Amino acid sequence: MTVTAEAHLAAGQRILASARFRQILSVAVEHMREPPVDTAHDEAHLQRVISAALEIGISEGADLEVLLAAAALHDVINVPKNHPDRALASRQAAEAARPILESAGYTEDEVVLVAQAILEHSFSAGHAPSSLESAILQDADRLDSIGAIGVARTAATAARMGSSFYCADDFSGAARELDDRLYMADHFYRKLLLLADRMNTGTARAMAAQRGQFLKAYLEQLETELPKFQIETSLS
Ligand SMILES: [Fe+2]
Repeated sequence: MTVTAEAHLAAGQRILASARFRQILSVAVEHMREPPVDTAHDEAHLQRVISAALEIGISEGADLEVLLAAAALHDVINVPKNHPDRALASRQAAEAARPILESAGYTEDEVVLVAQAILEHSFSAGHAPSSLESAILQDADRLDSIGAIGVARTAATAARMGSSFYCADDFSGAARELDDRLYMADHFYRKLLLLADRMNTGTARAMAAQRGQFLKAYLEQLETELPKFQIETSLS
């Protein structure tokens, strides 16, 4: 680790231990503990996203105060994946973050930058990042959607929505429209397999490469495990 990276790491650790960061994190965690608990968006997700944001932020030389605050509050409003307002979740989280940040003592400039990063981080909302901190938060959140943890979170979300794991008649959607509300595997084809190549920063691209390979291997393995014989289960 270079001297600069070491200094960034020390700064990051100071921020994580600061009273104002602890305050906003405790508010975020309280929100996530409210029932119904969503395993794909629980406090362990927050821990992973904050940690990845710190790792990428150190390497890319980001403003860690803004980045870590945005990571802590990025899912402070969680809208279920199959809810019509899903694309508005990041806007709602950005708005909800403002008073939380203000009461913890973040400056007006910091509040604006943190809210902007939260607004722009979402995949569903389709915003382009306008700052390095937005770009890194987007990368850190996307990293948690791929690799082994991505598989687990996708299965948890599929179970929550009552989706099937796959379409037995057309696994990869060659002759039908992909629908990730009906089939978990479709979510890999529609979104997850694309993410590794869509990281904003070089650091995240390097972190994502192996996770992307794992997703492809998982999907190939899943397809080999489909039933070899057609078993009729429709009720007559
Ligand atoms: Fe998230």
